[in-house]
Amino acid sequence: MVASQNLCFCVCLRSGVHRLRNPFTRSRRWWEVGEEREEEEEEEGANMPNEVVAMEEENAAVEVEVEVEGEASEQVVTPWTVESKDGGINYEKLIVDFGCSRMDADMVARVERLTGRPAHPFLRRSVFFAHREFDKILDSFEKGEKFYLYTGRGPSSESLHLGHLVPFMFTKYLQDAFKVPLVIQLTDDEKFLWKNLELDEARRLARENAKDIIACGFDISRTFIFSDFDYVGGEFYRNMVRISKCVTLNQVRGIFGFVGEDHIGKVMFPPVQAAPSFPTSFPHMFGDAKQSKDIRCLIPCAIDQDPYFRMTRDAAPRLGYNKPALIESTFFPALQGDSGKMSASDPYSAIYVTDTAKQIKDKVNKSFSGGRDTAEEQRKYGANVEVDVPIKYLGFFLDDDEELKRITEAYRTGQMLTGEVKKVLIDILVTMVERHRRARAAVTEEMVDVFMTARPLPHMFG
Ligand code: TYM
Ligand code: TRP
Repeated sequence: MVASQNLCFCVCLRSGVHRLRNPFTRSRRWWEVGEEREEEEEEEGANMPNEVVAMEEENAAVEVEVEVEGEASEQVVTPWTVESKDGGINYEKLIVDFGCSRMDADMVARVERLTGRPAHPFLRRSVFFAHREFDKILDSFEKGEKFYLYTGRGPSSESLHLGHLVPFMFTKYLQDAFKVPLVIQLTDDEKFLWKNLELDEARRLARENAKDIIACGFDISRTFIFSDFDYVGGEFYRNMVRISKCVTLNQVRGIFGFVGEDHIGKVMFPPVQAAPSFPTSFPHMFGDAKQSKDIRCLIPCAIDQDPYFRMTRDAAPRLGYNKPALIESTFFPALQGDSGKMSASDPYSAIYVTDTAKQIKDKVNKSFSGGRDTAEEQRKYGANVEVDVPIKYLGFFLDDDEELKRITEAYRTGQMLTGEVKKVLIDILVTMVERHRRARAAVTEEMVDVFMTARPLPHMFG
């Protein structure tokens, strides 16, 4: 494994600068256990220079400084790494550093008005907490103009975990609420380039992951799922090449932390993830450039994917395209809690959609608790619900707002015990995963073929 693969951006909370660092001792995407076992084998102490790189929003200009010793606190959020030193990602700070906007209550109310249905719990509870020009999407929808959704998955593991389901569940809600077409990119090429995966294995995983994605309930008459290895070419490729011409090597170094030792596959890849943001990449759906150029694109994803789309938004106006809008989520936390260090050899870090009821029960029971050590103390002092993992998980998956409030309050004040809260969560997750398992079993090879065929979708806006 090449050392520089792990170079990443750092947002220093004290000085507010982004910087390249050498995260060899700690770095990993902490919510993605089980996917990156090879990272365990990295040699300790491989020496990368620690540099400071300041970056301008949507136009990365690189500036190199020497690192200041003894940082007080810092957090790292990139497509490769999400971590924070002192527990918990500071999302407010990310909004400022990345230059996106906060999703506010007015906007949520506007979504409810425009769609005529209650907002998804992920919107009501600010799981999707940030956006870029989502207001423009709502403006154009209000005027009767068209937009489409774009999201994706890097197929690096056999099955998805609950965190991966977050953007897909939310995308399904958006598709149903706005009645719009959706493209889903499976970046098998990306995983081949970044991971220790055979090319054909990456392609196989893409198809397996497609089944889990289809099981989320996407509308076959409005959804196109594609693997990069199979679909890239034609208009899509022409857009990739146009995009590449707008981005300098210095810019991708600034945005993604690439260094001289990285293979050029990495430098080549960002335009692949950028191209689906432009409707002309899908002529079988939207027609030729004249018909399709102005259709807007909305991308739901977790905030880790933001760097790609900063780059894309920078290039868009130069190519005569609309900038893609984004709606971005926080991260579904690891079972050990925000500050817990995840180890690839620890099976108790994430819940997968393939876990059995017993595995889910065991994992939840071992998850990080804000409750007291004994029932007696818990009754007396109550729990710290701020750091409690089961409470955080309920915030994602317990739909009933009143019930969530009641449980949180009862637990905080000691009326509820840790085991009781965990039991509520286990029941919800077992039901959810069982429902998913049944939906996935009902996905046939033929359905996958249809979803993954480039085809006209005549009723996609209807
Ligand atoms: P990938 O496969 O790493 O992740 C797929 C999607 O899941 C989100 N995600 C999470 N959301 C909440 N909590 C978590 N713990 C969590 N972990 C992952 C990711 O942000 C992503 O939305 N390069 C991309 C694939 C891609 C893509 C896109 C994603 C291609 N085009 C457009 C979003 C939008 C990747 O490797 O995703
Ligand atoms: N998801 C990969 C990881 O966890 C890397 C990754 C995500 C990535 N998005 C990417 C790599 C985009 C390159 C470009 O390490």
